[in-house]
Amino acid sequence: MADLLIGRTLAFDADPFVAGPAAARIEGHGGVLVEDGLIVATGPADRLRAAHPDARVTDYGDALISAGFVDAHVHYPQTAIIASWGKRLIDWLESYTFPEEMRFDDPDHAAEIAVRYFDLALAHGTTTMCSFATTHSTSVEAFFAEAEHRGLCAVAGRTCMDRNAPEGLCDTPESAEAESRALIGRWHGRGRLGYAITPRFAPTSSPEQLEALGALWAEHPDCLMQTHLSEQTDEVAWVRALFPEARDYLDVYERFGLLGARGLYGHAIHLTHRERDRLREAGAGLIHCPTSNTFIGSGLFDLAGLAAAGQRVGLATDTGGGSSFSMLHTMAAAYEIAQLRGASVHPAALYWLATAGSARTLHLDDRIGNLAPGMEADIVVLDLASTPAIAQRAARAEDIWEAVFTTIMMGDDRAIRAVWVGGVPDPLPGRAG
Ligand code: GUN
Ligand code: ZN
Repeated sequence: MADLLIGRTLAFDADPFVAGPAAARIEGHGGVLVEDGLIVATGPADRLRAAHPDARVTDYGDALISAGFVDAHVHYPQTAIIASWGKRLIDWLESYTFPEEMRFDDPDHAAEIAVRYFDLALAHGTTTMCSFATTHSTSVEAFFAEAEHRGLCAVAGRTCMDRNAPEGLCDTPESAEAESRALIGRWHGRGRLGYAITPRFAPTSSPEQLEALGALWAEHPDCLMQTHLSEQTDEVAWVRALFPEARDYLDVYERFGLLGARGLYGHAIHLTHRERDRLREAGAGLIHCPTSNTFIGSGLFDLAGLAAAGQRVGLATDTGGGSSFSMLHTMAAAYEIAQLRGASVHPAALYWLATAGSARTLHLDDRIGNLAPGMEADIVVLDLASTPAIAQRAARAEDIWEAVFTTIMMGDDRAIRAVWVGGVPDPLPGRAG
């Protein structure tokens, strides 16, 4: 039976960074018709109701209905160490991250955190995520098994590291390649799941490991590849010392076949002109992680400049370097960082980044990230007056974007009225239907 969701619907005709805010269409009394996991029609609610009298109607009133949020870079194994105090990147990895990641050789721990992570992500309206796992294949198995159980469209990869990390977390070029290959065979393209080949970042991989993973990507060009790039200046200097022959940080990846359109480069803050040019020419995904960049003290990503230059930019929490599971908080942090760089990003562009923009970097934009016929029905429904503070400001809003912006800046999981995954309402605890 078809479902008809009614509310204020938000869809995109184009990228608002290029086409302006008018690229976003909000229908005041809109409908989304869903059948067999897919969106089959969108338009004015009354017209859809008349054309589909047998559809089961869920009327969300004046709540906002959009595609579910797409978190393009997250570390699900860091769920339990989010908001750990007082360190910068390298110290933070050594003090908090690596000890926690060591625990993921235990399949029970991995399964417990995977369940907890997906509960939190869905409670915050995130329906697709691209996650790093740990060096243990068990951590990837736990992620994909739970994502499959929940019917999610999700991406992950086994994080590869063969140096500059504790012995218990280090692999070798051979084991990284062999285990990644086995996981690709088992999970890539299974149902709604996809695999990302995952060298953690240049400092924790030997040249031999980067070469092996570049060769694996060439063998499986339809996989994504995810890593980190130029997050902190100390890290950039470390990469220069470790790879003196490379022209810059990106060149390390480039030399080993790890630059491409399906490549996802987390952070990408301290870029040279050459790196910007090469990333744009390659059509690579630059993943902006704003709450992480302020929390770890990394720097101010040039969102407006990079988007205007035609770079493909996605948005991400980077949990647990990021300080929130919420893509609303993440949009707010992206707005604030852009403000510090002198640019005011329109809420339509922020919302696009958190949905269609991130989906585009993951090469999933033909399936998720927008409300349009043929797209998979992953949907979030937002209450635009979810707290007294938000409600009183939204009551003053002169147009819909002012109301949406208030929820972007001040909203959290209380704003998530409902989530639909693959055309099925998710049983979010404590939420009215
Ligand atoms: N660089 C390498 N590993 C990580 C990580 O786990 N988090 C962040 N924020 N940066 C990294
Ligand atoms: Zn990261």
